[in-house]
Amino acid sequence: MANRTIALVIGSLRKESFNRKLAEAMIRLAPDGWDFDEVRIGDLPLYDQDDDGNEAEPVRRLKQQVRASDGVLLFTPEYNRSIPGVLKNALDCGSRPYGDSAWQGKPAGIVSVSIGAPGGAMAQQHLRNVLAYLDMPTLNQPEAYIQHKDGLYDADGNIGEASRDFLQGWMDAYVAWVERHAG
Ligand SMILES: Cc1cc2nc3c(=O)[nH]c(=O)nc-3n(C[C@H](O)[C@H](O)[C@H](O)COP(=O)(O)O)c2cc1C
Repeated sequence: MANRTIALVIGSLRKESFNRKLAEAMIRLAPDGWDFDEVRIGDLPLYDQDDDGNEAEPVRRLKQQVRASDGVLLFTPEYNRSIPGVLKNALDCGSRPYGDSAWQGKPAGIVSVSIGAPGGAMAQQHLRNVLAYLDMPTLNQPEAYIQHKDGLYDADGNIGEASRDFLQGWMDAYVAWVERHAG
C-alpha cells in the first residue's frame, strides 16, 4: 500500500478534548506509512470575505496542508446540535476565494465523540451537508458516533477492547475510501 498523508482536523480547541484523545488513539489503527498531519485551526482569523486573495499566514498554511494531503479526517464535537464555530470557520477559510477551495475533491471521513448518548450524530449530519457542498466525497458507512465513557480506552490510551473491532473496521473502511479516491 502506498504511503499516504492525511490532513487531520480536530474541531475542539479544548486541551483535554475527548475528540483529540479519540483521534490520537484512532490514528494508531491506520496502516504503516500513513501519516496524519494535524491542521491547526485555533489561530485562524474569523473568515472575512474582504481578505479573499490576501489571506493571513495561518489560512495559507491550512490550504497548503490540505492541498498536500491525500484525504481529510475530521473529528468533531457537537455544540448545540451542530458543529463548533471554530470548525465551520476552518472549512470556510479553506474554501475561498471562490474557485480556489483547498478542500475540493479530498476524500473525507468523520468521527464524533460526545458525552451524550447520540455521540454527536447531529453535528455529523450538519458537517456532511457542508462537505457535500465542498465536493468532498465522504465515507457514509460505517458511521462512527462515539459516546465518551469508561472503557473506551485501555490503560495506555489505546482503544479499549469493547470498541476495538468496531473502530478498526471504521479505520479500514476509511483507508479503503481514501485509496479509492486518491490519485
Ligand atoms: C457550547 C457547548 C454545546 C454543547 N452542545 C452539545 C450538544 O448539542 N450535544 C452533545 O452531545 N454534547 C454537547 N456538548 C457537550 C460536548 O459533547 C462535550 O463538551 C464534549 O466534551 C466536547 O468535545 P471535546 O471534549 O472534544 O471538546 C456541548 C458542549 C458545549 C461546550
